[in-house]
Amino acid sequence: MSNNNNVTIAPAHGKLGILIPGMGAVASTFIAGVEAVKQDLGEPIGSLTQLGTIRLGKRTDGRSPKIKDFVPLAPLECLSFGGWDIYEDNAYQAAVKARVLDAPLLEQLKNPLSAIQPMKAVFDQNFVKKINGPNVKSGGSKMELAEALMADIEEFRRRNECNRLVMIWCGSTEVFHKPAAVHQDLAAFEEGLRKNDENIAPSQIYAYAALKLRVPYANGAPNLTTDVPALLQLARQNEVPICGKDFKTGQTYMKTLLAPGFKARMLGVKGWFSTNILGNRDGEVLEDPGSFKTKEETKLSVLEQILQPNLYPQLYGDLYHAVRINYYPPRGDAKEGWDNIDIFGWLGYPMQIKIDFLCRDSILAAPLVLDLVLFLDLAQRAGMKGIQEWLSFYFKGPMTAEGLYPEHDIFIQLMKLKNTLRWMQGEDLITHLGLEYYD
Ligand SMILES: NC(=O)c1ccc[n+]([C@@H]2O[C@H](COP(=O)([O-])OP(=O)(O)OC[C@H]3O[C@@H](n4cnc5c(N)ncnc54)[C@H](O)[C@@H]3O)[C@@H](O)[C@H]2O)c1
Repeated sequence: MSNNNNVTIAPAHGKLGILIPGMGAVASTFIAGVEAVKQDLGEPIGSLTQLGTIRLGKRTDGRSPKIKDFVPLAPLECLSFGGWDIYEDNAYQAAVKARVLDAPLLEQLKNPLSAIQPMKAVFDQNFVKKINGPNVKSGGSKMELAEALMADIEEFRRRNECNRLVMIWCGSTEVFHKPAAVHQDLAAFEEGLRKNDENIAPSQIYAYAALKLRVPYANGAPNLTTDVPALLQLARQNEVPICGKDFKTGQTYMKTLLAPGFKARMLGVKGWFSTNILGNRDGEVLEDPGSFKTKEETKLSVLEQILQPNLYPQLYGDLYHAVRINYYPPRGDAKEGWDNIDIFGWLGYPMQIKIDFLCRDSILAAPLVLDLVLFLDLAQRAGMKGIQEWLSFYFKGPMTAEGLYPEHDIFIQLMKLKNTLRWMQGEDLITHLGLEYYD
């Protein structure tokens, strides 16, 4: 039945299959976490879909249901997991190697995790220089590789009796590359797949396979992937929702909390120096300048968009912003991120803020993966297609329609997300406008 906004949401019947290219630290922490929550061994902290509420109507109405009771999301019991990796480790072995979760917890989850064996990956070392592994599809054109991925997807769907599927990229960050002629439209892209065009990255072959089969696609890395006309065209043509890119978890999450606060109070920022030490496989991949450049682009763009130096030249026109990531193996997944922020106030008097965030990368990313797959599945059941800007909340470099700038302010992003849910269910949008002054 449709609501008064004419939105019809199909029910979340049956199983939702979650397909993950890249079964490393983030993916294994996500899957292990869902299994732990299902067995009552932990709480889904950090997940808006599992813990968040949404206010409906007037403040005096006292209606604040849980989001998962307000919109029909797939329940955790109905999720099945699969994926691809260049290494042969199953999800249990990958989680042990990632050293994010404690061994006694993983031991209790060994059965469901060991059953998840990665399928052979589509991989090209020109796009990820620092790693190489044996579990890779070989031979054939890029089109044949895409067809092999589509066969994997259909086989997974059949074997796990899934009613619906979602794909989310948790693979490594690929080297920086710009859209080329081959990306300009779908016909050129398909010709490029057949001719093995060097500008088509592995992540784009996965995304093409997903979109061809009408499987929603989320991009957890800063890779170019679906940010090209050809794949945007395919997503719209096949009516598939997509979103990206690069999970907003640690240092950039902090930035999008603080920067809107400085701007709200008209405080100036002269410099923002961010540096990290990170010792997991992601850190190793990012040691390659090509992969780091891709990451740097999404990390740097945030401040410029939030602070709007064009509108406030005296506050932000002279801002020096730098981001560094250093690979430091002893820390593993427990990243340390430092920020030194030089701000200035009344009459230009300078002040400094120092942040030292001792975080855990995959612990922060896992709940985002959960929310994204559940919301993308919801979007598809609600008939939404193309870029899902309302999911910008989760990303460092939100995808937007051509000609629009991305919204980075996390509080605006959250309002947009919740208003989209209200709109889907035919509830009044909340604008925080208090018209009682006029009564
Ligand atoms: N953890 C965070 O907070 C966070 C935040 C933002 C973005 N990310 C991004 O998420 C991704 C995953 O992070 P991670 O810490 O799990 O890294 P990871 O190195 O532990 O896992 C990535 C996995 O992808 C695999 N892989 C690489 N190319 C592949 C391909 N073509 N096909 C299939 N598998 C492939 C690798 O073998 C590896 O196992 C990275 O791109 C990272 O930059 C992570």
